[in-house]
Amino acid sequence: MRPDQDYFEETRLGKAYDLKLLRRLRPFTRPHRRLIVWSVGLVVLITLLDLALPYVTKLAIDRYIVPPAASAPDSRPGPPPAERYLSIDLADPAAAAVVGKYAGVARIDGNTARIAFTDLPRLTPADLAELRRDDLAGLTGLAAIFLVLVILDFLLNFSQAMVMEYAGQRMMHDLRMQLYGHIQDLALEFFIRNPVGRLVTRVTSDIQNMYELFTSFVSFIFKDLVLLAGIAAVMLALNWKLALVTFAVLPLVAAASIGFSKHARDIFRILRVQVAEINTRFSETIGGMRAIQLFRQEANNSRRFAALNHENYLAGMRQIRVLAVFLPLIEVLAVVSVALIVWYGGGRVLDETLSLGALVAFVSYIRMFYRPLRDLAEKYNILQNAMASAERIFLVLDTTTVLPQPSLPPGGRFPQLDRLEEIRFDNVDFRYVTGEPVLKQVSFNLRRGETVAVVGATGAGKTSLISLIPRLYDPTAGRILLNGRDLREYPSAVFRDKMALVMQESFLFSGTIRENVFDGAGGPAPARAEEIIAAANLNGLVGRLPHGLDTLLGESGSLISSGERQLIAIARAFARNPQLILFDEATSYIDSQTELLIQQALERLMRQRTALVVAHRLSTVRNAQRILVMNRGRVIESGSHAELMARQGFYYRLHQAQPGAGPAQ
Ligand code: UTP
Ligand code: MG
Repeated sequence: MRPDQDYFEETRLGKAYDLKLLRRLRPFTRPHRRLIVWSVGLVVLITLLDLALPYVTKLAIDRYIVPPAASAPDSRPGPPPAERYLSIDLADPAAAAVVGKYAGVARIDGNTARIAFTDLPRLTPADLAELRRDDLAGLTGLAAIFLVLVILDFLLNFSQAMVMEYAGQRMMHDLRMQLYGHIQDLALEFFIRNPVGRLVTRVTSDIQNMYELFTSFVSFIFKDLVLLAGIAAVMLALNWKLALVTFAVLPLVAAASIGFSKHARDIFRILRVQVAEINTRFSETIGGMRAIQLFRQEANNSRRFAALNHENYLAGMRQIRVLAVFLPLIEVLAVVSVALIVWYGGGRVLDETLSLGALVAFVSYIRMFYRPLRDLAEKYNILQNAMASAERIFLVLDTTTVLPQPSLPPGGRFPQLDRLEEIRFDNVDFRYVTGEPVLKQVSFNLRRGETVAVVGATGAGKTSLISLIPRLYDPTAGRILLNGRDLREYPSAVFRDKMALVMQESFLFSGTIRENVFDGAGGPAPARAEEIIAAANLNGLVGRLPHGLDTLLGESGSLISSGERQLIAIARAFARNPQLILFDEATSYIDSQTELLIQQALERLMRQRTALVVAHRLSTVRNAQRILVMNRGRVIESGSHAELMARQGFYYRLHQAQPGAGPAQ
């Protein structure tokens, strides 16, 4: 890879947290603002519900199971304050009857009887149940409320997830469409520099990461932070001293989290880079499978891949080591918090300054408190990935290697182009990469109706020259004039519509022949379609195929020979009915019969049209009015076949060297 090809070298993208990136996401969230607001509202409700559940437990314990010891109901010296009593209202005859049976146990005080909790085991179960009937009823009521809250929690969680995922999916959809559209508009130069695998990652997993960022970010900010704050508030309200004792562990938790993020950051980044590299390598392998198998590069390739894979494994292990310290550490701290609650809170229960219910609720709350912290590692990973993905997506979206299109001239109209009268190269220089000129000072012109051929050794720059005419690339110096105006003054659609390029290695899309020839749209009327197929000499091929025109081609037309592929490309050119034909003859060997078919089809195609033909077979050249002879990026001779032969120069020698060239005609 050349040093200037690593446009998106992942390793360079280090600063994963850039809030600016989040701000750039705003245009994508804006259309779904309502859904997001809904989602956030639901999250707040869910959090309140989550906070309510331990509180209901506390109520159940404190009110009905083990009520806190009431301080002495009156100032009379009586029962010591630290004892718990079951109070019984003697107005209820059933209760009074039970109390009557246990005269030695109950203390009667006016209309209320009290039995110490320590004496309760002396009652028969049936009597006990009778005395605690109200408590049981209250407990049942609270259990029912608990159940309702849990069901509500489920329903809210379900709705929240649906709303959020819906918004996330929509955003991902929009972002992917925009990215796809943008990539399609980029100049070819961009694709020379960026490997396919990397771009594929952009459109697939990077977008997926953004989606996860969106969903987990909302849940992190709104669910976890609100939950943490809520728990802290409730705990402080329940018993601020116990809350503060419990929070004593938090600095350790913070230290652990910071230590984790410091270590994890590098490792997560390395892993990310390696995954991208594996993707790139893999897609290149698939693309070049033919060459790999042909040149028996499998072992070599596997060795290189194994090295990459091993590095990935090592980084994976480092990540696991960090996680393996962090996760249990958080677990230990959670248990320490519980122990603190049991130790300090338990003591307060003993000296009656804390209810048992509150203690139980504290334990539940602290468990809830650590849950988001335990997920922190995962969230951290998502956030890091997503930030890096966002950065790379925006890097592509910000890439402006589009061919600059002209701005509207002052008159308000682009130059018109009804007929291509003349194309003129005016001292054109061109290179793909700095320092390696491909075309040097090329000047020639091509008038309407003319056929000009370009010949030259391999690598002379013929394909490059022909690619400049539809403005696949821009010259690095000099101008290309179309009807006397610089090509760059026209919007590229204007002239591309009027030309058809038959490429050296024609690219066929996976799809049917019909779709390839007629651009996917329904195509012309059947009679016209047949005419085009016949003119392009495709009848033979179409007749041989099982489904005729509707036969599916393998990906990039791999089931079609290169001769047939060129016939299909000619038919495609016919279908567009262009004014200018740019034909780059295939270099691969084509049998003489197919060659003849191509020759005929090409002649038909060029009739009445302007044509620039890159020819490898001199038989193609003879009909041209003019021949440009190229060598190392320069046009070194030009003239008709007869003139060039008479000159006995480069063309003459080229001609002599060609097998079966025969005597000059
Ligand atoms: P061409 O592809 O224009 O040569 O490459 P050609 O005359 O058509 O060759 P044949 O007959 O089809 O084989 C001209 C030079 O440009 C470089 C090539 O390495 C060659 O030296 N080149 C071509 C690039 O650097 N990048 C490209 O994408 C294409
Ligand atoms: Mg070529």
